[in-house]
Amino acid sequence: MKNVQEYISQHKDRFLDELMELLKIPSISADKAFIAETRKTAEFVADKLKSAGADKVQLFETEGNPIVYGEKMVSPDLPTVLVYGHYDVQPPDPVELWDSGPFEPVIKKTKLHPEGAIFARGACDDKGQAYMHIKAFEAMVDANHLPCNLKFMIEGEEEVGSVNLGPFCKEYKEMLACDTVLLSDTSIISRDTPSITVGLRGLSYIEVEVQGPNKDLHSGVFGGAVANPVNILCEMIAGLKDENNRITIPNFYDDVVTVTDEERAMMNKAPFDIEVYKENLGIDDVAGEVGYTTLERTSIRPTLDVNGIWGGYIGEGAKTVLPAKANAKISMRLVPNQEPEKITKLFSDHFNNIAPKGVKVTVTPHHGGFPAVTPTDTSEYMAAHQALLKTFGTTPIPERSGGSIPIVSMFEDVFGVKSVMLGFGFNTDDIHSPNEHYGIFNFYKGIETIPYFYEYYASLKK
Ligand code: BES
Ligand code: MN
Ligand code: MN
Repeated sequence: MKNVQEYISQHKDRFLDELMELLKIPSISADKAFIAETRKTAEFVADKLKSAGADKVQLFETEGNPIVYGEKMVSPDLPTVLVYGHYDVQPPDPVELWDSGPFEPVIKKTKLHPEGAIFARGACDDKGQAYMHIKAFEAMVDANHLPCNLKFMIEGEEEVGSVNLGPFCKEYKEMLACDTVLLSDTSIISRDTPSITVGLRGLSYIEVEVQGPNKDLHSGVFGGAVANPVNILCEMIAGLKDENNRITIPNFYDDVVTVTDEERAMMNKAPFDIEVYKENLGIDDVAGEVGYTTLERTSIRPTLDVNGIWGGYIGEGAKTVLPAKANAKISMRLVPNQEPEKITKLFSDHFNNIAPKGVKVTVTPHHGGFPAVTPTDTSEYMAAHQALLKTFGTTPIPERSGGSIPIVSMFEDVFGVKSVMLGFGFNTDDIHSPNEHYGIFNFYKGIETIPYFYEYYASLKK
């Protein structure tokens, strides 16, 4: 292991340079215009995986973006870890709010990143974090110290719902057979408190349209006499929550697992400074479901949020118009044991029910995903715990995250294994936002920690 860590410290600068190159390629999976660049990114990742020492490196074609695969099988007697990551990124919009180009990575110091952070779309989510695994692997191969069999599966459609990954995993179940899945696509609480993600929320994502008159109308000539779809949509959305910020869709909470008081007390012990939280977001107060703390609201409770809303005249100046239609995109974050399809149906039925006369409502479901919780009594969890303890020098704590990675529950269904979520980003790294960044400290810490994970995992599995 000494040689592994030595190799890492000797090649640090190159590791960072390579990540910068990777971050220059705009692999925006949501936008078809970037299909060629996205493929180039997959090729870049495959190349690096190969030069790090992986065998059978290949791009597997799908109906969408290719999946990068590679492996290093050391011995059938050793456990096998499947490493998952994604090379696709979210669109950088709104581009004008970036201080530097989203695909022109630069290093800048910040309060939380005194050593510097790389600013670029995908720096943290997930190129920077997926790349740590390739570099940790390279170091282990070089030092001839690989305590497990490794398989890598890095996809290009996570940010658009991983639609082709499920069928791929089913088709190549044997090739992908493993004892656990390791991924770094989540966060840690802070440098002082490393954490292991043990929960993800599910997702139900819906688009709605409210159609009123068959054309835009003069808001003076017709206003007051014809239902205004924008007004109606706002009223309908406002009614989806009550005065306690509870979601009013009938039966919405039926399947929500109640978390025990002990567990709630535990999770609220995690270090969290509400003042710092508010200051970072520029808000004077937090808001959410009555009876729950901010940490609970973002982990064990479901949500309903408008992600976008439009309709009517939004150009410069004033145009007097009574719009013909209004639209919104709405996400609901789900917790165990809510099921995305069931929730989508409850929403759809309810939204149609509350539509007043004079408008026509259409509900269109988008992608969804199941929530996931991972146990803390497995070899993979304990290995992650020991690895973080080793490199941070502090006992890590389990944490349930508010984000979603729908494939985690799919891995459990298809491979019959639990995942271990060993992320290294901070929640303040602005993933999906302008000026996304990833700390250099975090990048190197990840590369140093991952080899220990394999070492401890292999010895715990013996
Ligand atoms: N890596 C994130 C999820 C995440 C972020 C988990 C931070 C835990 C902490 C992932 O890339 C993501 O953004 N997922 C989407 C869902 C997907 C179906 C588009 C999300 O959570 O919005
Ligand atoms: Mn991600
Ligand atoms: Mn993401």
